[in-house]
Amino acid sequence: MGEGQYAISKYHDTNEVYSKLNHLVRQPLRPVRRDKMQEFLSYFEAQCKRSRELTEEARKYIPGGVQHNLAFNYPFPIAIEKTEGPLLWDADGNQYIDFLQAGGPTILGSNYAPVREKVFEMLKSCGPVTGLFHEYELKLAQLVNRFMPAVEMFRMLGSGTESVMAAIRAARAFTKKKYVIKVGGAYHGWSDSMVYGLHIPGTGRLEATGIPRGSSASTGEFFPNSLAALKRHLLVNRLRGGTAAVIVEPLGPESGTRPVPFDFNQKIRELCDEFGTLLIFDEVVTGFRVGMGGAQGFFGVKPDLTVFGKCITGGYPMAGGVGGRAEVIMRFAAGIGGTGERAYIGGTLSANPLSCVAGYYSLLEMERTNAPVIAGCAGDRLTSGLQSIIDRYELPFVAYNQGSIVHLETSGVMLLDLRNPIRIARELKPRKHMMEEMGAAYMSQGLITLAGSRMYTSMADTDDVIDEALNKFETVLAACV
Ligand SMILES: Cc1ncc(COP(=O)(O)O)c(C=O)c1O
Repeated sequence: MGEGQYAISKYHDTNEVYSKLNHLVRQPLRPVRRDKMQEFLSYFEAQCKRSRELTEEARKYIPGGVQHNLAFNYPFPIAIEKTEGPLLWDADGNQYIDFLQAGGPTILGSNYAPVREKVFEMLKSCGPVTGLFHEYELKLAQLVNRFMPAVEMFRMLGSGTESVMAAIRAARAFTKKKYVIKVGGAYHGWSDSMVYGLHIPGTGRLEATGIPRGSSASTGEFFPNSLAALKRHLLVNRLRGGTAAVIVEPLGPESGTRPVPFDFNQKIRELCDEFGTLLIFDEVVTGFRVGMGGAQGFFGVKPDLTVFGKCITGGYPMAGGVGGRAEVIMRFAAGIGGTGERAYIGGTLSANPLSCVAGYYSLLEMERTNAPVIAGCAGDRLTSGLQSIIDRYELPFVAYNQGSIVHLETSGVMLLDLRNPIRIARELKPRKHMMEEMGAAYMSQGLITLAGSRMYTSMADTDDVIDEALNKFETVLAACV
């Protein structure tokens, strides 16, 4: 781990975080007081009329009226019109501090002008797409290789979901084995084989609506942080042909919502080596947010394959890619004819000039400005401020961060698991609702969070922005007493 190069200034004491989270889940819920919640909700009726009109109309044409899984729809979704640096403005002109960050990619801040200018230039000279090779594809692949030497070769795709599919396909083609193991509760996109054990560990196919049983028959999940459970899966799979890949988010599922001990990834690496299994790091969020070397650089662990998503283009469209050992990635050789035994992937609009130029300059600017580390400092300031609010009001809530990824658990819904099914049946709904309420309450104060429990910070979050945000958080958290 290089001093000063990474966003995580101090790795959390994982046992301490879990003991606080377990304490939170044992407590009765501490939602916002009813009278205050009414007051917070009245903001939407009074100040978000245009958003309401637009999203009600959208319900006629768009299922649920909203397209993004991370968009709040309680009490109704808001429509965003303008972004700049750390801020967003909605269709009614209300201003928000943006801690959703589009789900993570805008580490330079929203709508960062130097990258936008490069995109304009590309649009003027080449347009967004030709279907042929462009020099910026090479420049981007070289840059990723410079930051992450384990990415010897790189193939660009359109999304994180696609890139996970591709990584799994390459692992199967290379190892000639079929099983894939993920961590329970982790999200790796919505492909047929990965909608398995989503959100809550142990739930297997619970959310696999519309997916035939066979599509996830070769997927397994193990309980977060249980290396013994992973080893059991590997042993069983060895008897039936073997495991092609283990896929993990290196900070733990859901951007470290279930954090991992520092040596966890190294131990997974060793298990993969023991069983002849490829290790896939899903760095869709951590790739460049944790530092230019990614989580793999931070932990000093070399995966066989790395999956990229939204960060690879700095938030511009068609953002995805998979890279790693040349002998594995060569399965993706493209072009008419291809080379050798090909694992088929593709995408008309992937690796287009616009996405590649956006990615190239976003990464260069992040390196030049030290954006991951600056965003990490903002995350540290936000977390310590939240912790002091929690202490001052003697709340059972838990705040911790991995650099610019800040977790504020108030309902503990993400910590439920199937080892206690009665508790899930009883508590899932009210805990989920509390999370929704917290998100709406924060929003009424001008704060956009991810699902009311996670915040991504960016380089644009100056001390003043964070301090203003903390005042707003305090208004909501003080109402939970
Ligand atoms: C860790 C992780 N993997 C994969 C994905 C899927 O990426 P995409 O939304 O680009 O398909 C996400 C999306 O949030 C993610 O967080």
